[in-house]
Order: sequence, then C-alpha cells, then structure tokens
Amino acid sequence: MTLTLEDRLHELELLPAWKPRQRTSGTAPSPAIDITASAEQISQLPSIQPTAQPIASLDWQTLQQVVSNCQACALAKTRTQTVFGVGDTDADWLFVGEAPGAEEDKRGEPFVGAAGQLLDNMLAAIRLRRGENVYIANVLKCRPPENRDPQGEEVKKCDPYLKRQVELIRPKLIVALGKFAAQSLLGSEETIASMRGKLHDYNGVPVIVTYHPAFLLRSLNEKAKAWEDLCFARATMSSLMP
Ligand code: URA
Repeated sequence: MTLTLEDRLHELELLPAWKPRQRTSGTAPSPAIDITASAEQISQLPSIQPTAQPIASLDWQTLQQVVSNCQACALAKTRTQTVFGVGDTDADWLFVGEAPGAEEDKRGEPFVGAAGQLLDNMLAAIRLRRGENVYIANVLKCRPPENRDPQGEEVKKCDPYLKRQVELIRPKLIVALGKFAAQSLLGSEETIASMRGKLHDYNGVPVIVTYHPAFLLRSLNEKAKAWEDLCFARATMSSLMP
C-alpha cells in the first residue's frame, strides 16, 4: 500500500492542521483576533516527540527521552512520570513486571514498593543484585490509575518500547514476573501454572515465567514454587554461559 503525504501526516498526527481560509476578493479582512495562548493552554498541549524515527531504530538515550514524552495512550494524562526501567543496560538478566504502581509512579523507578523489596530478596536468593548484571523493566511505562489491570490498547502502544529495550540490552535471559508480563511477552493466554517450568522465547531471547512478587506477598504458599522457578532460571543461565 502506498501512503500519500497526507496519509503520512495523519499517521504522525500532524493533520488535520489549521489552514488560513482563503479570502475571496472583495470581502473585508476578518477583525484581528488574539492568538496568544495562555500559559495554561500551552501546558495542556501534547508534548512533541523529539524524533520521528521509528522506535525500533532508537538508541538508548533517545528511547528514554521518547518514552518520557510519550502521549500515545490515556495513561499519559494520569501519570506523575514515566517509569522506564532501572539497572545495568548491559545485563545478562532482564526482569519484566507489569506496570508501575503508586510508589513507582512517584519515584520513577520500577519495583520500589513492598513488591520491590520482595523482588530484591528474590534476586539475592540467586546471588543477584538490582543494578548489577540485572535490568528491571515493566510492560507498561505508566501507572494505570488505581492500579487497575493494563488495557489491550495501552499494551499495544507500549510494546515497542520494551521490544527496543530488549534489543538494546540483549539479555541472555528474561524472567517474566506474573501472568500479565508473561502473557504480554509471549503473546499467550495460557495460565501462569502452565507457563512455569518451561523455556519460552521472546524474539530469540529465552524467557522463564514466575509469579509476580505482589502475588507472592498475598500467597505465601506459592513462594516455594517461585523458588523452583528461580533455581530453574539460575541453571538455565549457567547453561547459556560460554
Ligand atoms: N509491580 C510491577 O509490575 N511493576 C512495578 O514496577 C511495581 C509493581
């Protein structure tokens, strides 16, 4: 399909644009109007993406900048800030959660609330530390209000960001934390029970699925299973090492 220039401008949300009306000869010029925008009006304007490059070609810094200005879905209106991710951008391990919660939205870092504390303990159990050969990100970069479940459209808009993060980090292994992250990464509707204990694939990177730390805080009985998953992840990583 060939896109016309107008189609392309629509895609970039640069159309429809305001155009001056042609004055027909003989008509009087319109009275002057005040076109000065107030500070409030300016603050309500969507911020302009710093680049029109495809997300798949962005470098880390530009990607971070594009995410922080993202207006692609309605979550932009309710977030305090975007939560891009944290850690070693050259890490072998990538842990992926669902979406920022209230504390993450406030601090701009993933997994800093109670679930984050447990995630840090889970990392320590397999001799890992946040920021050291580990990167932590979420499927969604913005907090869904009232911590509701992410919606399909939000995931669709945010997906390319995580995909690019994975391409740039090039982790050896991804650990999907919880049903939502697992289903989004793997494009699957399977239950977490059926996804655990297997090696999956995300664009060529092996993926292991375990429970979300927030779920484990409520379901202490499942901690033993999460421990099995982490041992499986550790063994898989050892087998991937040269
Ligand atoms: N839960 C998530 O999935 N991600 C966070 O960053 C915090 C809580």
